[in-house]
Amino acid sequence: MKPTPASVGIIATGSYVPPRVLTNFDLEKMVDTSDEWIRTRTGIEQRRIADADTATSDLALRSARNALDAAGLQPSDIGLLIVATVTPDMFFPSTAALLQQALGALNAPAFDLLVGCTGFIYGLAIARDLVACGSYQRVLLTAAETLSKITDWQDRSTCVLFGDAAGSAMVARVPEGHGILSYSLGNDGTNAEALRIPAGGSRLPASAETVANRQHYLQMVGSEVFKFAVRAMVDSCEEAVSRAGLTMDHIEVVIPHQANLRIMDAAAKRLNLPLERFVRNVDRYGNTSAASIPLALDEEVRAGRIQAGDHVLLSSFGAGLSWASMVMRW
Ligand code: ACO
Repeated sequence: MKPTPASVGIIATGSYVPPRVLTNFDLEKMVDTSDEWIRTRTGIEQRRIADADTATSDLALRSARNALDAAGLQPSDIGLLIVATVTPDMFFPSTAALLQQALGALNAPAFDLLVGCTGFIYGLAIARDLVACGSYQRVLLTAAETLSKITDWQDRSTCVLFGDAAGSAMVARVPEGHGILSYSLGNDGTNAEALRIPAGGSRLPASAETVANRQHYLQMVGSEVFKFAVRAMVDSCEEAVSRAGLTMDHIEVVIPHQANLRIMDAAAKRLNLPLERFVRNVDRYGNTSAASIPLALDEEVRAGRIQAGDHVLLSSFGAGLSWASMVMRW
């Protein structure tokens, strides 16, 4: 994608995390792990977990309302509603349709995007292009996840990593020279099964056997994903920055997918960027999949740590195996 004259960007953000905190010390009582192992391998100290009766669309609703308030807009002002998630309330209808119902955003077509942790950046790219070509004036993109619902709480290699959250962005025309400057998206399906839920789809429909075999939970070959993550982030960051006609020196803020501190450290080193420019909140929320970037972005915006004119680089990797990076001028 090449930069085009129409300036489109994020005019408001929102987020929401459920109140219940699960610490590493709580996990020590559930599986054979330790606070020390989790902190040194991942940087995570705690994560938020949704209650039994809270679904993804409930988190999405709170987050979407926060973004609407920040934008000073009503649900009827939304032209298109997109939800990025790998933990939909149900197979169908889409979580976007359920969010539309709860919000009362009845003027908007609504659909889900399933691209794993990169879903928010993919959604921004789609929203940007649809607004730039004049199809819609305002797109509300919400990335919402309740990973706790697909986590195998007996599997220490995955259950320590994830958390629940939602983050939203209102995408619309912005003043000339601001907004989304470029993006780089990719996917390598050759290793698609490194991160998956094996059962419950048409390949392996739900049965008593699949439940007994714990095949409805997330499974991950962590070391494969780790190796891929650093390379994918670095290559796509370089591509997005170059497509924007910039160099790494122009980037004031990097918001990487919050999966693992070691991945962020390695990417910062390879990109030759000071680690201080990398936003990090993985210690407080763990990996919240597609919600991790909009949650971090909303925290930075609300704390005033992103200023008008700053060049912000978003970068993510995840199921697929997919990757995505984007450059914005705030
Ligand atoms: N507590 C204690 N020990 C553990 C735990 C745990 N929670 N989990 C694994 N171990 C053990 C393993 O059994 C293994 O023991 P062994 O050597 O006796 O066999 C040892 O620790 C090392 O295990 P590794 O898997 O090699 O540990 P590694 O250093 O690779 O860290 C981790 C694992 C954190 C999962 C890492 O591979 C990683 O971060 N991968 C990327 C994951 C990621 O980013 N996923 C997000 C993708 S997108 C999405 O979220 C949907």
